[in-house]
Amino acid sequence: MDIEKNNFGKDRLVSLMCDSAQFYQKNLYSGKAELHLKYLSERKIQDTTIKGFSLGASLDYHSLPQYLLDKGYTVEECETSGACAKASNGNLIDAQGERLIFPIINYMNEVVGFGGRAVGNNNPMKYKLTCNTVIFDRSKNLYNINLVKELIQANTISSIIVVEGFMDAIFLYNAGFKNVVASMGTSLTKEQVQICKRYADNMFICYDGDFVGQKANLRGFEIAKNEGVKVRVVRLPDNLDPYGVIELCGTEGFQNCLNSATPLFKDWR
Ligand code: UTP
Ligand code: MN
Repeated sequence: MDIEKNNFGKDRLVSLMCDSAQFYQKNLYSGKAELHLKYLSERKIQDTTIKGFSLGASLDYHSLPQYLLDKGYTVEECETSGACAKASNGNLIDAQGERLIFPIINYMNEVVGFGGRAVGNNNPMKYKLTCNTVIFDRSKNLYNINLVKELIQANTISSIIVVEGFMDAIFLYNAGFKNVVASMGTSLTKEQVQICKRYADNMFICYDGDFVGQKANLRGFEIAKNEGVKVRVVRLPDNLDPYGVIELCGTEGFQNCLNSATPLFKDWR
């Protein structure tokens, strides 16, 4: 039986996304990704981390579609993968044009989507995620689950820390809190909790210290509770995100936040 037909062309889309990730990775070292590298160095992200997370760069809007079409992918595949989009003039463009690229890799080690951060001034939306496709649903994936799964297989963790942002996850991982995943936005979903539950009994929810983050904490807490996961809510100092806590208070500061995280069934306000 034709495997590709059997899974509705998903394999083709996964390989298109993997090819795109490699394309973006090469761009980062092409000598043309000045703004992207500047952002990374301002955030003190080391080279080994950049490689470990397969970060990349989109330099413009036309190179990626050109590259993919040259490789034999169809216009339709480029579009349905979410890697490319149709511009108003009908041209196929890179959906992550000019952004710093965070490949989103699922537990089977497949690249299924991208998070893109604006690095220039001409892009009002700070982060952009791949649209939902047949291989990617933002609400059912967790950033960094691929690396966390490796730790779980090596039996080295007993809990998972959930944060909001890509940079939070990368920075915590770097600081030695390797059991971290990002929900890629504020609202933790039931599906995301179920993924965590598969890998660890304990969960720390650790959203930004701002109002939106605290509200998201509450919702995540409720969902995790309903799913029967042992959950603690980590409260961060005013207006800091996990990245900021590590930056300002160091590894120890963040560990203190974890230690004083409120367990379930206790008044946690
Ligand atoms: P933040 O704005 O807190 O990200 O959004 P950050 O990591 O602190 O930003 P920088 O890069 O350090 O300035 C947290 C997460 O919310 C989602 C992204 O997943 C982001 O990582 N988000 C944020 C969006 O999807 N769109 C946005 O415009 C902003
Ligand atoms: Mn943040």
